[in-house]
Amino acid sequence: LLNQIELAPPDKILGLTEAFNRDPNPDKVNLTVGIYKDNSGKVTTLPAIARAQRIIDHHDVLNRNLSYLPIKGGKDYADSVKNFLYDESCAPSAKSAGYQNTPNYGKDLLANNRISFTQTLSGTGALAICAKFLSLFVSKKVFIPNFSWANHKNIFSSNGFKEFKNYSYYDAKTGQLTVDQWLKDLRAQVSADSSKEPSCIILHACCHNPTGLDPTREDWDKIIDTINELKMIPIIDMAYQGMESGDLIKDAYVLRKCIDPKYVCDNGIFLCQSFAKNMGLYGERVGSLSIVSPSNAPPTVKEAVDSQLKRIIRSIYSSPPGYGSRVANLVLTDPELKQQWGKDVQNMVARLQGIRNDLAGNLDWSAVNDSQQHGMFFFTGFPLKTVQKLRDEYSIYLTDDGRLSLSGINDSNIEYVSDTFKTIRQE
Ligand code: LMR
Repeated sequence: LLNQIELAPPDKILGLTEAFNRDPNPDKVNLTVGIYKDNSGKVTTLPAIARAQRIIDHHDVLNRNLSYLPIKGGKDYADSVKNFLYDESCAPSAKSAGYQNTPNYGKDLLANNRISFTQTLSGTGALAICAKFLSLFVSKKVFIPNFSWANHKNIFSSNGFKEFKNYSYYDAKTGQLTVDQWLKDLRAQVSADSSKEPSCIILHACCHNPTGLDPTREDWDKIIDTINELKMIPIIDMAYQGMESGDLIKDAYVLRKCIDPKYVCDNGIFLCQSFAKNMGLYGERVGSLSIVSPSNAPPTVKEAVDSQLKRIIRSIYSSPPGYGSRVANLVLTDPELKQQWGKDVQNMVARLQGIRNDLAGNLDWSAVNDSQQHGMFFFTGFPLKTVQKLRDEYSIYLTDDGRLSLSGINDSNIEYVSDTFKTIRQE
């Protein structure tokens, strides 16, 4: 049977680094994966994380305890992450004034014990467990934006989902979001669906991957109203909290909005969250999945959800790794480290914005100059054949959709990248 297996296609993002590594051109530039590099091209450890690591190294007990974590991860991590997500990120703060004028609904969720929480293997792991849970108990249908992260469909189809629909997100001709069309698509497709099974919808909380364009606050209000009216199940993918505005709290707007008790959400709210980017903990795989039970659900619902999450996780990887979550927990609970973390996020965002501005300065090109894009990526709008040409003839690697990871650009390659883009645009 093994000789009947077909070759799987290379991964649309990580597979490109394999191709990059094989490329002998000394001028090659890897702008594929969403990973933050400094101006010398290195993936450095954020100062807050490095300090947390030093503290942990000094505490033999913490560091040497290599025993298993519980199936859903440690209690300390769960408490500090839930507190960060549902209290701090949902609280009106002076800094975020104007973005949040609602009461702290997240704190109510915590007080009423409505959140089933589990540590996960970063955002991908959270999405996979979320998909497995939903497909087993709630729905096998999901709406994904067009465009979206290349791995979304892969994760959901590998975890039991059967029906995939797209909603309009981005108009390649104008380079703008298509929120009205998005809502029309949802209304048309959901109302044409006569089955009882509800539809899930993936929402990028901020720094939409790959376009870097997010709806305004007013647009989000309309979007969440529509999702609620259509009784859809929100799956919030929050992999870039802080990387949009440099303010971790501000960037959690979609979460704050979704948990507003005026929304019924009979089938729960699903939050898939990651510290890969905002803490730079990529390889440590640190994230979480939380499932918010409906307000009218008896406590037995949360208990049942918790128990099923455990069963799913136990059958796949048993329990999560410990070290990265100890680092994250320390950063979230130590006030000085927490403050430093906020600065680290701001510094990353400032450098990314600087690169975007430098590119705009070098290229007389409206796609960069007029762009409202933010976050780790720049969406060039290049068609596939241009992306391939950049790879084959110039050894500049973008993802197939024309996405470019900004921090891969630095002083030593910005001229080469800009000149090549100018040349290729003239051809
Ligand atoms: C990306 O989009 O490049 C990142 O989310 C990394 C990944 O796992 O694909």
